[in-house]
Amino acid sequence: MNVAELPKIELHLHHEGAAPPAFIRQLAHEKRVDLSGIFKSNGSYDFRDFSHFLNVYEAACQVLNSPEDFRRLTLAILEESAENGVIYSETFLSPDFCGGGDLSAWKDYLSAIQDAAEEAERKFEITLRGVVTCVRHFGPEQSKRSAYCAAETAGDWITGFGMGGNESVGAQADYKWAFDCAREAGLQLTTHAGEFGGPESVRDAIRHLGVERIGHGVRAIEDPDLVHELIDRGITLEVCPGSNVVLGLYPEFDSHPIAKLRDAGVKVTVSTDDPPFFHTTMRREYEMLHQAFGWDAEDFAALNNTALEAAFCDDATREKVKKRLEKQ
Ligand code: ADE
Ligand code: ZN
Repeated sequence: MNVAELPKIELHLHHEGAAPPAFIRQLAHEKRVDLSGIFKSNGSYDFRDFSHFLNVYEAACQVLNSPEDFRRLTLAILEESAENGVIYSETFLSPDFCGGGDLSAWKDYLSAIQDAAEEAERKFEITLRGVVTCVRHFGPEQSKRSAYCAAETAGDWITGFGMGGNESVGAQADYKWAFDCAREAGLQLTTHAGEFGGPESVRDAIRHLGVERIGHGVRAIEDPDLVHELIDRGITLEVCPGSNVVLGLYPEFDSHPIAKLRDAGVKVTVSTDDPPFFHTTMRREYEMLHQAFGWDAEDFAALNNTALEAAFCDDATREKVKKRLEKQ
């Protein structure tokens, strides 16, 4: 059995971060924007480290500035994900990059994204749900605008709220208002923590933001008490091994703590984060985990069950995806 062919569930994908470089170059060409500085001569995105990655990411976002751009992007992402065997995906959408935090503009962008998701579901049998994310280094005031947009569009499709961006800016607690607002609107919660911040960042996310999932969270491995707390609370980690390796958290897959976390009893799932930036796909993540830790079809089936249980969707959608998993 080739593990790369198994069906897959992905819970941690940044929408703009999934834009292929050729897609961004084409938009830059159409809009006559010079983005040559963000690409290597071989065409891939060019960045040195995490903070430079965030700069390059935001530069690419300059040409994603209409609902139509996001419609095209969504279709491209879902076609690529489906080709890699993904049957259910949750994408992080930032009102900051979809209309600058303005509610009416956000609704137009969201409507285009949802139209594309419906088309992709018909064509490629992949289901998408949206998690609105604020961007940490844009600050607490801007996070309130994102939370307001999230709360106003919360429902069957926008099902979660979270935070990405530079974990070394400010503290998790500075964003409490936004997370409380989203929770009151019925949204489920996740935040990036324990990626560039240490275990205390994961602890703060649990204490102050009350999240049920953590984006990355892998540095929890540095603190055994925290590992126990994650297990006791049943918190699921959205682990992105390939992203962590490219951004230099761990030198290679073999030294990534995902297997240790899983073996300790933490609920772990696997995602790509920003696949073209990190030269990865869900297929490659599966292959690398198989190579590094010997995970087989049974391990990946358990991984998918954990992901499906932690998915921010309603039970009817969960059932539909479960049937799709069993069919394959
Ligand atoms: N935004 C896009 N990718 C990210 C990552 N890996 N960490 C934090 N913010 C991000
Ligand atoms: Zn991320």
